[in-house]
Amino acid sequence: MPPDLDAGPVSITDAGGLRVQWRPEGHVSDYDSDWLREHRGGSDEGSQLAPVPVTWGAELSKAMPAADYGEVTSDHGALLDWLRLLRDFGIAVLRDTPREPLSVLTLAGLIGPARATNFGEHFDVLSKQEPNSNAYTALGLLCHTDLPNWERPPDYQLLHCLENDAEGGDSILVDGFRAAETLRAQEPAAFRLLSGTPIDFRFQDSESDIRFRAPAIALDEAGSVAEVRFNFAVMGAVRAPANRMGALCRALRAFAEVIRDPALECHYRLSPGELLIFDNRRVLHGRAAFDPTTGARHLQGCYVDRDQLFSRIRVLERAAPLQ
Ligand code: OGA
Ligand code: ZN
Repeated sequence: MPPDLDAGPVSITDAGGLRVQWRPEGHVSDYDSDWLREHRGGSDEGSQLAPVPVTWGAELSKAMPAADYGEVTSDHGALLDWLRLLRDFGIAVLRDTPREPLSVLTLAGLIGPARATNFGEHFDVLSKQEPNSNAYTALGLLCHTDLPNWERPPDYQLLHCLENDAEGGDSILVDGFRAAETLRAQEPAAFRLLSGTPIDFRFQDSESDIRFRAPAIALDEAGSVAEVRFNFAVMGAVRAPANRMGALCRALRAFAEVIRDPALECHYRLSPGELLIFDNRRVLHGRAAFDPTTGARHLQGCYVDRDQLFSRIRVLERAAPLQ
């Protein structure tokens, strides 16, 4: 481009667009008015996060965003509605899905290909011999996010229920955005510490050693909560200057208490054939202990990237634009 490039004569076309003749070469460009509106300064378009996250608490147990598998696979509009619920609530259920093993990978395909981790492309949540994760026991799990020890933890987690006949094992979900905002309101000093102090997360087994250091609460440029990393099972020793150690441990404890507040906990019992999907960088998940002697419990899980979800929504919106 010429270094002295400048707009020359400017006019409005018959179609209502903008026509610019550029100096010094005389090249003519036409700009569509919709395109100009979309790219005007100060527009929020293109924000990385869900346009309007809808936060929730215990009441979601009775109002879980959900759709039927048959509906979303036969009607693009229904799939779009369901994916928008997932984007905005950070959680959704799909009912009456095929109960075959590995269906979780084809269900992920409604959004995009699964993202593999050190636990594989998919993982089996079962009570196992010699487990390399406490998820693979019958123990209860406190609410956590998966893989905060990765530089980029997986975005969306899918859990597909194949069997759930054991006593116990109900799922517990907590909106991390709601929890972090509650901490900010109740204990602002703890919130400031957790959003500004990196914490060590690490996972080790015979094959992997994956570590990352990041704050439990990440904020975006506007100061809104953008991400939560919280998982005592993969936390390293707390490292902090001696004079800040006590405050940091108390802040972690305060956040853990907020996360265990029954008013924030959504309890949900997965039925065989149901798929639960949630934003793993926002929503914490856990489960009640179960008794494997009373019946089988088998979930299969995998992860997909947020880019795939947002892309899928945009492509579906081409056929069904927002009113
Ligand atoms: C997991 C997990 C929860 C469950 O596999 O990451 O937390 O309900 N499982 O078993
Ligand atoms: Zn988990």
